Amino acid sequence: MDKAKRTAIIAGNWKMNKTPKEATALLKEIAPLVADADCEVIACVPYVDLAAAIEATAGTNVKIGAENCHWAESGAFTGEISTGMLKEVGVEYVVLGHSERRQYFGETDETVNKRTKAALAAGLKPIVCVGELLWERECNITEEVIARQIKLDLWDVTAEELKNVVIAYEPVWAIGTGKTATADQAEEVCAFIRAQLAKLYDQDAADAVTIQYGGSMNDKNADELLSKVNVDGGLIGGASLVAEKFAAIVKAASK
Ligand code: 13P
Repeated sequence: MDKAKRTAIIAGNWKMNKTPKEATALLKEIAPLVADADCEVIACVPYVDLAAAIEATAGTNVKIGAENCHWAESGAFTGEISTGMLKEVGVEYVVLGHSERRQYFGETDETVNKRTKAALAAGLKPIVCVGELLWERECNITEEVIARQIKLDLWDVTAEELKNVVIAYEPVWAIGTGKTATADQAEEVCAFIRAQLAKLYDQDAADAVTIQYGGSMNDKNADELLSKVNVDGGLIGGASLVAEKFAAIVKAASK
């Protein structure tokens, strides 16, 4: 399948930034700038911002995502949020397995897999993040790391469910560091991810999956990264908090 047939997706990952009022203001700024986008536009925002974000983007082409979800439907999991809660407020996407959750909050491939399965069962579309540490790249095991994450994170996800999965390749050394992977490095790993998906499912299924790049993507480097055949979009941190920069990335993906 050629790239043009896949859905290009630009998603902001706001991380722990913006209060509900600030979220409303930023989304009101973003929405008109991306109104004629020829790609999917998503803002993944903190839990407490979700309701305000959904209200602020009603009637626009900006979709709202959460930054995590729990795998249980309900129960004694203090501080966690269920997929049912997200669905009820109108969330469509959910970021899972972000490297910050893996690094700071004990997320493992096993828990990413449980969250992914739960999200899919609830009708949410997971954006599953994978990526190698700098030390893993230096030790030349990037492909091993990525293959393992893809296999484990998507364990027991059916081919039918895969249609609703987005993969984000985020090399950990490029996140928030200003060090972007070169377009060739991004392409190399995104192509490898697609090859792994083809092994686990089949080529048609793999060809249909949107694979994003994330890690210091901005208005300056988006064009080149998105020109690569296996880079179907971006998961944007810092630059998603500045309306003009985010809109410029959306524009680059709309070409
Ligand atoms: P930055 O764009 O700030 O490097 O963050 C990338 C990221 O982690 C998106 O999920």
